[in-house]
Amino acid sequence: MASDARCGKCHEDRLEHYRDTYHGKAMAIGKPNVASAGAVCYDCHGHHEVLPQANPESRLSKEKIVATCQQCHKGANTQFVQYRPHANPLDRENYPVLKLGLLAITSLLISVFTFFGLHTIVW
Ligand code: HEC
Ligand code: HEC
Ligand code: HEC
Repeated sequence: MASDARCGKCHEDRLEHYRDTYHGKAMAIGKPNVASAGAVCYDCHGHHEVLPQANPESRLSKEKIVATCQQCHKGANTQFVQYRPHANPLDRENYPVLKLGLLAITSLLISVFTFFGLHTIVW
C-alpha cells in the first residue's frame, strides 16, 4: 500500500496519473495488508528487477507484458496491453498521440464555443 507513495516520491508524475486510473483508485480506498483490489507499481514493474520497458528483461517488455497483466486479467492479450496505466496527455515526449488528441479536442471546443458565442451575440 505504501509502496506507491514510495515510488511516487521520485516518479511524481506517474503516481499522479496512476491515481487517475482504476488501479490507483482501488488502491487508494483499499486497506493496508488486505488482499489488493488492483495493481500497484510493483505488480507491473517488479520489485528489485525494475527496468525500462525497452529492456527485454523488463516485466513490461513486448515479450513479457501479456504474462504480467495475465497474473490478474486471465484474458489479457496483445490488444489489452495497449492500455496505458498512467498516461499523461500533457507529456508530449512519452505520449505524443495523446498530446495531439488533447490539442485537437481542446481547439475544437474553443473554436466551437467562440463561433457560437459570437453567433449568439450577433443574433
Ligand atoms: C530515490 C528515487 C527513486 C525511487 C524511490 C524510485 N525510483 Fe524509479 N527511477 C529513479 C531514477 C532517477 C530513474 C532513472 C530515470 C531516467 O533514466 O530517466 C528511475 C528509473 C525507473 C524506471 C525506468 C525508467 C527509465 O526510463 O529508465 C522505472 C520503470 C522505475 N524507475 C520505476 C520505479 C518503481 C516501480 C519504483 C518503486 C518500487 C521506483 N522506480 C522507485 C528514481 C527512483
Ligand atoms: C497496470 C500496470 C502498471 C502499474 C500499476 C504501474 N505501471 Fe508504470 N508502466 C507500466 C507500463 C505498461 C509502462 C510503459 C508504457 C508507459 O510509459 O506508459 C510503464 C512505464 C513507467 C515508467 C517509465 C518507464 C520507461 O520504460 O520509460 C515509470 C517511471 C513508471 N511506469 C513508474 C510507475 C510508478 C511509480 C507506478 C506506481 C505509482 C507505476 N508505474 C504503476 C505499467 C504499470
Ligand atoms: C495485481 C493484479 C493486477 C495486475 C497485475 C493488473 N491489473 Fe488491471 N485490474 C486489476 C483489477 C482487480 C481490476 C478491476 C476489475 C477487473 O478485474 O477488471 C483491474 C482493472 C483494469 C482495467 C479497467 C478495465 C477492466 O478490465 O475492468 C484495465 C484497463 C486494466 N486493469 C489494465 C491492466 C493492464 C494493461 C495490466 C498489465 C500492464 C494490468 N491491468 C495489470 C488488477 C490487476
